[in-house]
Amino acid sequence: MLRPIPRAASTAIPTTNFSTRSLHPRHSSSIAPARPQVIFSGIQPTGVPHLGNYLGALRQWVKLQNEAPSNATILYSVVDLHAITVRQDPVQLRQWRREMLASLLAVGLDPKRSIIFYQSDVAAHSELMWILSCYASMGYLSRMTQWKSKLALPESSSLLDPSTRTKLKLGLFSYPVLQAADILVHRATHVPVGADQSQHLEFARECANGFNHNFQHVLVPPETILSPARRVMSLTRPHLKMSKSHEDPKSRILITDSRDEISQKINSALTDSIVGVTYDPANRPGVSNLIHIMYHLDETLADSCEALAHDCRDLSLRALKEKVIDTVNEQLDSVRMKYEELTRADAHLLGDISDEGSHKASANANATMSLVREALGL
Ligand code: TRP
Repeated sequence: MLRPIPRAASTAIPTTNFSTRSLHPRHSSSIAPARPQVIFSGIQPTGVPHLGNYLGALRQWVKLQNEAPSNATILYSVVDLHAITVRQDPVQLRQWRREMLASLLAVGLDPKRSIIFYQSDVAAHSELMWILSCYASMGYLSRMTQWKSKLALPESSSLLDPSTRTKLKLGLFSYPVLQAADILVHRATHVPVGADQSQHLEFARECANGFNHNFQHVLVPPETILSPARRVMSLTRPHLKMSKSHEDPKSRILITDSRDEISQKINSALTDSIVGVTYDPANRPGVSNLIHIMYHLDETLADSCEALAHDCRDLSLRALKEKVIDTVNEQLDSVRMKYEELTRADAHLLGDISDEGSHKASANANATMSLVREALGL
């Protein structure tokens, strides 16, 4: 049975800057015995991730997996039910789910260590979502901003506006409730996310505290682990973020791109005609983005982007690009090979891995659901 969560841990929960050191005993209560960590995060099935997704989130997931204490439970989910809050083509969705799963494994998530699964395979996520939605306030949800940005509505839009009400589907509005359920159904203690998800994590804590206050202390308010902001910019329009939705495929590097594709894309990256290399994102966005990519892919190269640029100061931009290509290849060769192996091999391999993941995730989630049902009188 679960022990009650000490008050100090269930109220003011700080956001932790990413550092695996912060995952160690400091966060377990000094009163109650240390609770083993449960790390949970989710990613939408958007197909093969690009360098921005990789540096921003996935590398942190792998690092957490590799550095977590051996008694930690680690769960990473491809959140396909969140994906359908906006229109999806079924054939493409199926492919993107698979590509995302293979990508998670290719970057180094290990099914022996982490539970990797499709959200829609574990029914308890949806079940807890319904229960939480019976207590979630429409007022709180309407102040969240993601539904507005997904519908391309201004931040000032309100539910009072009839055209907003028509466009906004119930599932998109309650997206944060499903996200809270994802986390709470596994009684996650730590959730690594980007800063854009802080609002949703705050809401998840609110859901847990509300439930615990009204019923029994069965849910765990999770702590946010903020992934470092690493804005990787478009190669062709370096004032914009690297994004899946930009038309030009040369604007982004996918983690499975071949050496040829990587060379072509970096060689055609927009730079400038200033002689020499400097790190100056405001005035030299293209060159600075290349430095940024190289530095974050291999932080052993220098102590900072500025220092790396200084080391490269006498290089021509051509030579700089060659260096960037080498670094990208060095880091992505093994990812691409692993990905090819996973997708080429026996067609059942990925299915077997996700079955095993959903099996373990279901067991973990069902244990929480028994307590929740019991607490509610169901
Ligand atoms: N909303 C998250 C995103 O868009 C994805 C997500 C869904 C998630 N459920 C989650 C992240 C639970 C962390 C925990 O990035």
